[in-house]
Amino acid sequence: MELRISFFLLIAAVAALSSATTTNAHNITHMLAKHPSFSTFNHYLTLTHLAGEINRRRTITVCAVDNGAMNSLLAKHYPLPTIKNILSLHIFADYFGAKKLHQITKGSTTTSSLFQATGEAAGTSGYVNITDIKGGKVRFAPVDSDYDGPMATFVKSLEELPYDIAVIQISNTLTSQEAEAPAASPADLNVTSLMAKQGCQTFSDMIVSQGVQSTFSDSVQGGLTVFCPSDEALAAFRPRYKNLTADGKASLLLYHGVPVYNSLGMLRSSNGLVNTLATEGAKKFDFTVQNDGDDVKLETKVVTATITGTLIDEDPLAVFKIDEVLLPKELFKAEPPAPAPKPATKSKSKSNGAAAGGDDEDENADGPGPSADDMAAADEDNSNEGERSRGGGVAALCFSLALVIFACIC
Ligand SMILES: *[C@@H]1O[C@H](CO)[C@@H](O)[C@H](O)[C@H]1NC(C)=O
Ligand SMILES: *[C@@H]1O[C@H](CO)[C@@H](O)[C@H](O)[C@H]1NC(C)=O
Ligand SMILES: *[C@@H]1O[C@H](CO)[C@@H](O)[C@H](O)[C@H]1NC(C)=O
Ligand SMILES: *[C@@H]1O[C@H](CO)[C@@H](O)[C@H](O)[C@H]1NC(C)=O
Repeated sequence: MELRISFFLLIAAVAALSSATTTNAHNITHMLAKHPSFSTFNHYLTLTHLAGEINRRRTITVCAVDNGAMNSLLAKHYPLPTIKNILSLHIFADYFGAKKLHQITKGSTTTSSLFQATGEAAGTSGYVNITDIKGGKVRFAPVDSDYDGPMATFVKSLEELPYDIAVIQISNTLTSQEAEAPAASPADLNVTSLMAKQGCQTFSDMIVSQGVQSTFSDSVQGGLTVFCPSDEALAAFRPRYKNLTADGKASLLLYHGVPVYNSLGMLRSSNGLVNTLATEGAKKFDFTVQNDGDDVKLETKVVTATITGTLIDEDPLAVFKIDEVLLPKELFKAEPPAPAPKPATKSKSKSNGAAAGGDDEDENADGPGPSADDMAAADEDNSNEGERSRGGGVAALCFSLALVIFACIC
């Protein structure tokens, strides 16, 4: 009995520890390396840099085709950017394990592919229909496709890490006229429309309405990194933005562009001052890139922002999402740090606020952990990785508690 309890405790501790330290990272190159008949597909994921994109994302499905199907595609001698567009149709921003594929509500669903996310797909051409057809087969067809060759069907599941990544085999490559069209080089991409499509609509609109989009687009060719504040950050900032002069507004927007291409990896491995599109002679308008573990922080003298996502990272253009508007010291005075809301007047309201905060924390600590459904829902949000690992920690804790209770009953 004694022994059994300590055994369970040990298992619980190990489970909690391993879940808490696992970062849910997947490596598609590594996963496919176990399947030699997919070596060509794997090779092209690396060549097109789609592998990095897959590894960065959560809640994703990769529809792999075997070497035979890849050879048929390669026989068409498309340039690499076109192959990239075609292969990006094979990567869905949702999780479809074998089980889910065979249980699609009403037998049909439409999912968005990475081709949609690149901003190169016009209209709905980046979406793929998934349909359960007769005989237990599942068919995949790009929406708007008038493709009449052999249809692509589900063959088998290769690797599944539930709600993180599913790697499945389909019988033929998915393609569409849009994907096969000559691909625009990154230098020809429309930065503002790309940002608008990928979750930076407000920032993109501000750039357009302030008439500074050409400064951004003219910089792409020589390398450009844009840090786009989230819509929430911009909404909170709007009153102060309105207060700026037209020149001030333009400078503030240009302050979010760095006229050099920086991948996330490059940002992670270099600290220091960077110039921006607003830098002009004595008006420095610079900020500091500062690494903090895996996080990349941008520090102006006024505010510190953290990179929270990647919209595009393809030499010569990278666009990252950040959680705060970058405030240059040239336009804004340094303020006491905002995060801990401390009323200016030291009245009793302060202690009330602190007590309320404490209650909240207790509630969270005592409250039940997220249910399996909550976890699945959280998994569907692929933009919030930090939240997920925390959820994983809570789940691990609940799991260990359950084991301990089970051990005690025994
Ligand atoms: C992914 O796996 C491949 C092959 O195992 C390896 O070469 C590569 O360095 C890994 N990438 C990362 C980011 O760990
Ligand atoms: C995809 O699904 C939509 C809605 O079910 C349908 O209207 C469209 O014709 C389908 N397209 C293809 C190519 O199957
Ligand atoms: C970029 O797209 C915007 C719409 O989002 C459009 O107004 C603008 O003219 C485009 N710029 C170029 C250079 O095509
Ligand atoms: C706008 O500017 C005025 C005058 O400089 C200042 O009093 C006011 O607080 C500013 N408003 C905001 C929201 O910053």
